[in-house]
Amino acid sequence: MRTLCVDVGGAGIKALVVGAGGEARTERARVPTPRPATPEAVLQAILGLAAGQGHYDRVSVGFPGVVEDGVIGTAVNLDGEEWVGYPLADVLHRELGRPVRVANDAGVQGLGVVQGHGTEVVVTLGTGMGFGLYIDGRYVPNIELGHHPFRKGQSYEERVCEAERAKIGTKRWRKRVHQVVEQLRHTFNFRELYIGGGNARLLAEEDFGERVRVVDNVAGLIGGLRLWSDADVSTLDDLDRVPAGAGSPGRPARR
Ligand code: BGC
Repeated sequence: MRTLCVDVGGAGIKALVVGAGGEARTERARVPTPRPATPEAVLQAILGLAAGQGHYDRVSVGFPGVVEDGVIGTAVNLDGEEWVGYPLADVLHRELGRPVRVANDAGVQGLGVVQGHGTEVVVTLGTGMGFGLYIDGRYVPNIELGHHPFRKGQSYEERVCEAERAKIGTKRWRKRVHQVVEQLRHTFNFRELYIGGGNARLLAEEDFGERVRVVDNVAGLIGGLRLWSDADVSTLDDLDRVPAGAGSPGRPARR
């Protein structure tokens, strides 16, 4: 069983085929996110990437916005308005002829790294700030923490997004990431917090203290596998686009 895992980001769209055990079966491919990032342009980019990935049986997509039942709710870092109500899972299913599941990008990334015990939290740092909450490994979808007010009249995302890092420099940006982590520590009392996303690499040397780990951005793609295998992600069952009898979601492997 091979899963084509696609991650739609504000700057790049990435794809990789993952085998049943989570091992990469192809080279990760990346294309720049088209501008303007309309549904049609992004669709063509995904189809182009998919065509270069050889054989796969099903498709997982991490999308940078609210996703419900495979339908896009928001996409603030793409060409937003046009995306509202876009049935991405259905369109891809039709185009690729494979079962497709779509969920929030940070949500998918977290599925690749959480341990499955207690309250775990994922923050992704890239074009925007993504957030995922997991209770005993079960993903709580579409919490848009990035757009909540944080400090100085700015939202979390406005404080630590890539555009802000480019403006204030990496040193000051790192300080702000520490502030975000400490705020989340006191808000969620997490068992573990994972920091991923394209800018996580700028934090590799950083010490965020207990219960905080910086993870590889590739986890964002591998999480796509668990979008299919994690029965605890019951809220995602609605996203199932598998024709009757074709899928077999089992119990999640506890790691
Ligand atoms: C979006 C989130 C997304 C994050 C990272 C935010 O602007 O609202 O849904 O997870 O960017 O891509």
